[in-house]
Amino acid sequence: MDCKILNFQNRKDDRGSLIVLENLKEVPFEIKRVYYIFDTDPKFPRGAHAHKNLEQILIMMCGSCDIVLDNGKKKKKICLNRPDVGLYIGKNIWREMKNFSYGAKLLVLASDFYDEKEYIRDYNEFLKVLNAK
Ligand code: TYD
Repeated sequence: MDCKILNFQNRKDDRGSLIVLENLKEVPFEIKRVYYIFDTDPKFPRGAHAHKNLEQILIMMCGSCDIVLDNGKKKKKICLNRPDVGLYIGKNIWREMKNFSYGAKLLVLASDFYDEKEYIRDYNEFLKVLNAK
């Protein structure tokens, strides 16, 4: 599956932690967009879509949530709960974010600008796109 856990270098000292993310270094693409999700409710999962072209890195800045990934053949569940860990998700991976803890804050780095046309929000269409490859 085209996904990967990234363990970021923590420049930790007595004062606390500091993590640096630079284009094409710690982040394997050029960051064109950043967004973040907060005030979540554990009752409401998010995501449930795939991207035709977009690459993303998800970082849990605070709290935790489960990310369920699906490449049409296999499913994988990853619990994100640390700000020094990123989850890289490549193209054509169906994802769902769920079980957000109270006060969770999820940061997303994206390789391109927002484009609704590039989303696949229907699971059957996702499978069709994969089978056409
Ligand atoms: P949505 O795709 O439902 O969020 P999630 O990935 O968490 O399931 O997005 C919520 C709304 O925000 C939807 O109307 C699309 C809009 N949106 C933007 O306008 N720009 C963006 O960069 C993103 C990620 C979403």
